[in-house]
Amino acid sequence: MGFRALGRTGIRLFPVGLGAMPLSLEGGPGEETGISVILASLERGVNCIDTANVYCPNDNDIGHNERLIRKALGRFGGREPVVVATKGGLDRRGPAWPSDARPEFLRSSCEGSLRALGVPAITLYQLHAPDRKVPFEDSVGELARLKEEGKILHVGLSNVTVAQLEAALAIVRIESVQNRCNPFECEDYRGGMLRACEEQGITYLPYAVVGGQWGHARAQRHPALQELAAKYGRTSYEVIVAWHLAVSDRVVPIPGASKIASAVSSAAAAELRLSPEDVRRIAGIC
Ligand SMILES: NC(=O)c1ccc[n+]([C@@H]2O[C@H](COP(=O)([O-])OP(=O)(O)OC[C@H]3O[C@@H](n4cnc5c(N)ncnc54)[C@H](OP(=O)(O)O)[C@@H]3O)[C@@H](O)[C@H]2O)c1
Repeated sequence: MGFRALGRTGIRLFPVGLGAMPLSLEGGPGEETGISVILASLERGVNCIDTANVYCPNDNDIGHNERLIRKALGRFGGREPVVVATKGGLDRRGPAWPSDARPEFLRSSCEGSLRALGVPAITLYQLHAPDRKVPFEDSVGELARLKEEGKILHVGLSNVTVAQLEAALAIVRIESVQNRCNPFECEDYRGGMLRACEEQGITYLPYAVVGGQWGHARAQRHPALQELAAKYGRTSYEVIVAWHLAVSDRVVPIPGASKIASAVSSAAAAELRLSPEDVRRIAGIC
């Protein structure tokens, strides 16, 4: 399957990315396994890793996931350029991960991510979520300033509505939207978000693509997905990843993995083509 555009940046992405969050949460697989999972993805052609400063075991370890990715990239040795897409705008104090998208907090988060990743500029920096306590335009305006200053090369948004995307586009060029989307929760594919991304040349990065940290086991139990997995001789997870890819060539799913087998399987799904009828059947689950 061909590479996909990252917005209008000129960067080409392998059709499937890696969501690195499960490598750094409490109870995660540990550093050596985490690095092996990242390397397994990269060795299969994946060239986009999604992360965030708050992907860490606790609030004393902000940047854990970004530092892990940096170590893995060090071992990968720059064989191919890799897009590390990170985020700012959430606070890890307390269990709820509340939004904090005040301009000064976004700026310090971005500077922390630059240090954690060890890079002079972040290729894709995403607002993790809008903050109801802060005018949305102020948060996006700060990302625009960080871009002007060269600390970030491209801006993305996460957990946004179409109206928020439109408001952001009036301030700065947006290259990606990252929202929750899977066969059980696919409002963005049915509603206007995917269409808006296609019209504006924006890449849609669905997260929780197979159901998320707590919901993914549903993929194995669903009768239609089980049937399709048997038909194609692949796993139900691979069928779901292939479904995302068939929905639009603007879509680059970022499945999470804490096991090498999951990362390898998701990358392999880039080669799986579903019939149009089966694509419609999966859309019907939602
Ligand atoms: N922007 C946001 O607000 C937001 C929120 C949540 C997540 N995210 C991003 O989205 C990424 C993915 O989210 P997620 O990890 O919660 O959900 P997910 O992609 O639905 O994955 C959940 C779990 O499913 C398993 N899995 C995935 N692909 C598989 C495969 N091909 N075969 C077998 N098992 C497979 C993995 O289990 P194992 O761990 O056992 O390998 C993974 O941890 C995160 O890493 C993060 O980068 C963003």
